[in-house]
Amino acid sequence: MNIDKIKEIGFVDEPIDKFLDLKVEILRLKKEKNAVILAHFYVVPELQDIADFVGDSLKLSQEAAKTKADVIVFIGVHFMAETAKILSPHKKVLLPDLNAGCSLAESAPADKFAEFISHYPNHVVINYVNTTAAIKALSDVVVTSTNAKQIVESFPENQPIIFGPDKNLGNYINSVTGRKMVLWDGACHVHEEFSVEEILRIKQDYPDAKVLAHPECEKPVLIVADHVGSTSALLKYSAKDDAKTYIVATESGIIHQMKKLSPDKEFIPAPPKDSTCACNDCNFMKLNSLEKLYNCLKYEMPEVTLDESLRIKAEKPIRKMLEISEKLGL
Ligand code: 13P
Ligand code: SF4
Repeated sequence: MNIDKIKEIGFVDEPIDKFLDLKVEILRLKKEKNAVILAHFYVVPELQDIADFVGDSLKLSQEAAKTKADVIVFIGVHFMAETAKILSPHKKVLLPDLNAGCSLAESAPADKFAEFISHYPNHVVINYVNTTAAIKALSDVVVTSTNAKQIVESFPENQPIIFGPDKNLGNYINSVTGRKMVLWDGACHVHEEFSVEEILRIKQDYPDAKVLAHPECEKPVLIVADHVGSTSALLKYSAKDDAKTYIVATESGIIHQMKKLSPDKEFIPAPPKDSTCACNDCNFMKLNSLEKLYNCLKYEMPEVTLDESLRIKAEKPIRKMLEISEKLGL
């Protein structure tokens, strides 16, 4: 398959022998090529299980920064693989399907964001990691949902801040820190889909169920949540807490790890507002499959690349996040 075709459709579409044991072959190719497989909690269980590291955005960027592998295969979405490339420019970074984007990252086009921040000259610019390299390059520091609160609080209270691109996370951080950060009007189409009415309806059948919510959710969902946190924070909470049932208001892929840590507990995915769709699942994360991962490793394509001058500018705020996180023991 030629490179132009791969760029056009976003992945390697070569036929695969149906008698191949894909899991065995992926592990063989991984060893042969000295590759590491990083997977986000939102991908399908069989991909989480084949990865060397499965985690939240922070853990995966920490792994990408320190790996000794020659090839990084990122089973996640484009901004995650791009962050890995920014941190490890001499490594080959592969993404099984280049169509795996992110609605939140797309909600902040670089030209419009640059115009926006130009109206706030004395502000520090803090951006969520769910952004393109061009937005990271316009940032003073990057955060993930695991460290956003602490990083915002690391700035003096009187320091004006712009926070982007997620208004829900920004509002949540404002509410727990008392800051009045100026927010960019962006959001994730998956996390905005959870229905507080449906969550409350489930609670009538399971009165003891606890609600776990990611801070990318809208305020009414966060208000009814027993615990708000990043994917790893929700996972830890579900393992330590003593309830028997949880309603999970984040992408349902995380439930695979929750069940692994707590096989006797019940996890109910929070339903979407539109009961006719599966829009509480991230369609971008779900583009990753065992077949695409196999072809991606075999042909070492598609590769995530970026302009070196942009990479250098985008690296600084990510390194700053990693340094602060290390100091905080995150
Ligand atoms: P975390 O895993 O960092 O909580 O992020 C969630 C997310 O939406 C990633 O796209
Ligand atoms: Fe982006 Fe939302 Fe998917 Fe996360 S769940 S990758 S924020 S679209």
